[in-house]
Amino acid sequence: MTTPTSPEMLVPRAVEASGNAYAPFSKFQVGAAIVVEDGSVFVGCNVENSSYGLTLCAERNAIFAAVAAGHRKLKAVAVVAKGDPLPWPCGACRQVIAEFAEPDCPIYVASVDNPTHIESTTLGDLLPHSFRL
Ligand code: THU
Repeated sequence: MTTPTSPEMLVPRAVEASGNAYAPFSKFQVGAAIVVEDGSVFVGCNVENSSYGLTLCAERNAIFAAVAAGHRKLKAVAVVAKGDPLPWPCGACRQVIAEFAEPDCPIYVASVDNPTHIESTTLGDLLPHSFRL
């Protein structure tokens, strides 16, 4: 069944967002799509900077857009990138996802070059014992 949280819905949105990635330094274009509690989808792409450390990942850009729009409950996350390797969320993004999602939140990862091959895991598997205040 196709639901708002299904990978077939989210991965194409992430692929679309990856086309807007600003990645002139790494050349690694990443797109993310997240679905929130009411079924709305927010997207993000990585945005790099000449001052490299200012780069922000696709996942965090998508999550911050959702939070800015008033949403704090993530139901699923999809991340894609062009080429290799698959863009498993970095540690910082895992921690930010954990702020707004339950451990059973699905995380889908795929390549833009083969977007129907989707690997699936959960936040709890990617970041067990996450830090919470
Ligand atoms: N990147 C993401 O967008 N998400 C991740 O989870 C890992 C890395 C981006 C940051 C940088 O622009 C490029 O990938 C190479 O590290």
